[in-house]
Amino acid sequence: MSALDGARARLRAARRVAVLTGAGVSKESGIPTFREAQTGLWARFRPEELASPQAFARDPQLVWAWYAWRYALCAAARPNRAHQLLSALEARLGEGFTLATQNVDGLHARAGSTRLLELHGNLGRARCERCGERQNLPAPEAFEPPPLCQRCGAAMRPDVVWFGEMLPEAALKQAQAAFQRAEVALVVGTSGVVYPAAGLAGLAREAGAFLIEINPEPTPLSPLAQLSLRQDAGEALEALLKGEEGGSVADR
Ligand code: OAD
Repeated sequence: MSALDGARARLRAARRVAVLTGAGVSKESGIPTFREAQTGLWARFRPEELASPQAFARDPQLVWAWYAWRYALCAAARPNRAHQLLSALEARLGEGFTLATQNVDGLHARAGSTRLLELHGNLGRARCERCGERQNLPAPEAFEPPPLCQRCGAAMRPDVVWFGEMLPEAALKQAQAAFQRAEVALVVGTSGVVYPAAGLAGLAREAGAFLIEINPEPTPLSPLAQLSLRQDAGEALEALLKGEEGGSVADR
């Protein structure tokens, strides 16, 4: 049996599966990743220099302009095969399935994933630093940053986790528990360098899970994985989940 066949058999037999995704999963939807070269308007900024509380304090307009651009890009994008296959896997496994994502683009939810933990927040929401209120942004064409809090009137910030900030505690705990329980864990399209999300892979391995990595490039997580598929996310998930219900094209 090939390594791929072995992994497929494990996935078919598993009742508890945990998945961590990163920006690579949305690349086939046309959304640039963080650590590959940026193009166009934002090419001269490093994401690390925009996605921080210090950057926002220094120049909120600049940071909002970047988020508004990404929000419009994501709203116009569609979930791809990888998002759809992960949603189909959830439909089969139900409560045994957990999807933790570092992505803030909302594409997993639009593909129908519900057992979803958005560890780094969501681009389509704003948060009030004064009163804690959260609000969905209006449609991109009607959106003019900064949004004002409907409860207290203050200017709001993007509801995302920035460098140096804590992840939402409940979501992180649930993700950690799911990776510790998982029989099979998948790490898809992440460079595996941003903690604590990247630490989920190690937790799963320590607890005895079979770890599969999907990434065209090797990462610091590769040595932990029993199988590394050096392919695009959609293609690799297709190969892994062959024979499972593919599901129809969902976009909510
Ligand atoms: P990165 O940009 O760091 O990594 C994207 C990964 O996707 C790379 O390892 C690529 O090799 C891989 N990749 C590229 N194309 C792919 C494809 N078609 N299929 C599968 N993989 C592909 O993005 P993340 O790992 O998500 O955090 O970054 C983690 C966090 O750092 C982000 O959530 C964000 C960022 O700065 C915050 O903003 C807090």
